[in-house]
Amino acid sequence: MKIKKFLLIFVTPLLLNIQTSLADDAKMIKGLEIFNETAACAACHVLKAAGSEGNVGPNLDTVEGLNYDSVMDIVTHGLGVMPAFGEDEILTKEQIEIVSFYVANSAGK
Ligand code: HEC
Repeated sequence: MKIKKFLLIFVTPLLLNIQTSLADDAKMIKGLEIFNETAACAACHVLKAAGSEGNVGPNLDTVEGLNYDSVMDIVTHGLGVMPAFGEDEILTKEQIEIVSFYVANSAGK
């Protein structure tokens, strides 16, 4: 009984934690690939973490208030010259979530 309680209280959260950070690492790797290759965001945007130097759109390292939701929104619906990756079905919803996670977590780094 005591051991079960110990496992439940201490070991389970630890395992869950490891699982989430592994999933996050995988998203960062996949997100970089989408940014540079699949969606070619790199062709239009500077993002130091991705080594990209495109200058059609704004430098993503210096955009103020950039976060996961704002990236999701613009990648889905596009704006001006920027394609609507979601509406035009260039990327799947999952790919948009992954690339947005990647950009939100690497901009300015
Ligand atoms: C064909 C060039 C092009 C491509 C490809 C492109 N963008 Fe953009 N992006 C732009 C332009 C231009 C703007 C500015 C739009 C405006 O304000 O009219 C922009 C704006 C943005 C913004 C908002 C910046 C701000 O000032 O709020 C984000 C975030 C962004 N792009 C991320 C991405 C991501 C992620 C991808 C890949 C999935 C991508 N872009 C692909 C051209 C592009």
